[in-house]
Amino acid sequence: MPATSVIGLQWGDEAKGKVVDLLTEKHDIVVRYQGGNNAGHTVKFDGKTYKLSLLPTGILQSHVKSVIAPGVVVNPHAVLKELDGLAAGGQDCSGRLMISDRAHVICPWHLLEEAALEKSRGAAAIGTTMRGIGTCYRDKVGRSHAIRVGDLINRDAFASKVCEIVRFKQIILNSLNPDGEQMNADAIIADYAAAADRIRPMVADSTNYLLDALDNGKWLLFEGAQGSLLDVDHGTFPYVTSSNSSGCGIHSGSGVPEREIKKMIGVVKAYTTRVGGGPFPSELDNEIGQRIRIAGNEFGTVTGRPRRCGWLDAVATRYGARISGVDSIAIALLDVLSGFDELFICEAYDIDGRVTRDFPSRCEDLAAAKPVLRRVPGWQEDITGITKFADLPASAQQYVNDVKKLVGKPVELVSVGPDRSQTIRM
Ligand code: GDP
Ligand code: IMO
Ligand code: MG
Repeated sequence: MPATSVIGLQWGDEAKGKVVDLLTEKHDIVVRYQGGNNAGHTVKFDGKTYKLSLLPTGILQSHVKSVIAPGVVVNPHAVLKELDGLAAGGQDCSGRLMISDRAHVICPWHLLEEAALEKSRGAAAIGTTMRGIGTCYRDKVGRSHAIRVGDLINRDAFASKVCEIVRFKQIILNSLNPDGEQMNADAIIADYAAAADRIRPMVADSTNYLLDALDNGKWLLFEGAQGSLLDVDHGTFPYVTSSNSSGCGIHSGSGVPEREIKKMIGVVKAYTTRVGGGPFPSELDNEIGQRIRIAGNEFGTVTGRPRRCGWLDAVATRYGARISGVDSIAIALLDVLSGFDELFICEAYDIDGRVTRDFPSRCEDLAAAKPVLRRVPGWQEDITGITKFADLPASAQQYVNDVKKLVGKPVELVSVGPDRSQTIRM
């Protein structure tokens, strides 16, 4: 397929990184088009584990060009830290990376503002990753105090913008937190100028590059970050990220028209996790949730926070699949559910006595939703070495078939372990 996309259908961490890595071999270009270094995508192969955050997962393969498109928010220090980490491990990948000059730059005030805003929300804090993602997107949409990568690499343009913005932002920051840090514009300019010098050779008009690549028959792979339910417009607002992290974001974030994407794969974790605040109807805040957390190693790649765990929420996932418009799904981490006598799938919500399969638009209604659970048989066997669907225990096969029916999409692959090889292709 000339253009394929991989989208998370839940609240992130569905194993998108693994699925992207599996598909990368057949592609020429891998594109990140939204989010930033709030993402954490883990891939394992040849006995090694790689944790990528802002860099597209394709960066690990030498035949691939990796593109950070206009819709991404870029912390230049985070880019360099990741590239340096790979170089220290023997992989110099900087020549494989292209960063759009249209992408927006995360600056120190974004992190300071985010810390103050999250603190001011008290118990209603979103539980963000504290990477300045939301505050950078807010300035982009607000248009007054935004800096793009194209400005960053132009020393004079960058310096004059920083001086103006620091003056303005410091007034706001001082009113939010009178004892807070005082920014030094000169120090910020010097710090970012050094990063800009290293990044400059990677900066280009990625939009033209991608459109030309399609014209020339290259194969593109779009790597979603976060998940459909964290989408700023269609997710569980306000407990979302600040970009269109469902399939809706591909066109706006990359500049590649939706109709060019011939195949969309949704990634579904076999259960549900969430990091940060917000309603989660099938959450297991008990020893079963803890058992899943330990078995699935459910601790955030970016922040190390324990992920909240629960049964698979098929109402939420079906909604994610529908808004993202996926053709098929990949079910990941099925092995984590081994060893349970019985399992449950949330197939509907009971909201104040009304039973529905529709995902509510208001967070308050989702918070009131009680999960209607379907009980299904578990299996005891270790399935991490199985590579054929027919070799899975009958109950595991039934679980996959139930997910397929409840989510309403065909199953493309089943993942039974973090390694590339631990994959069942259907
Ligand atoms: P992403 O953000 O969607 O790319 O997902 P993360 O990488 O944050 O989280 C998924 C985690 O599960 C990573 O640690 C992966 O190595 C791991 N993983 C991926 N697929 C499987 C699987 O099938 N089984 C198990 N046990 N772990 C998996
Ligand atoms: P990947 O790509 C899971 C969550 C945060 C928080 C909310 C807003 O690895 O799936 P932000 O810093 O984006 O403003 O935080 O979104 N969040 C994620 N949760 N996986 C992610 O990325 C996430 N990126 C952000 O925990 O609740
Ligand atoms: Mg992740």
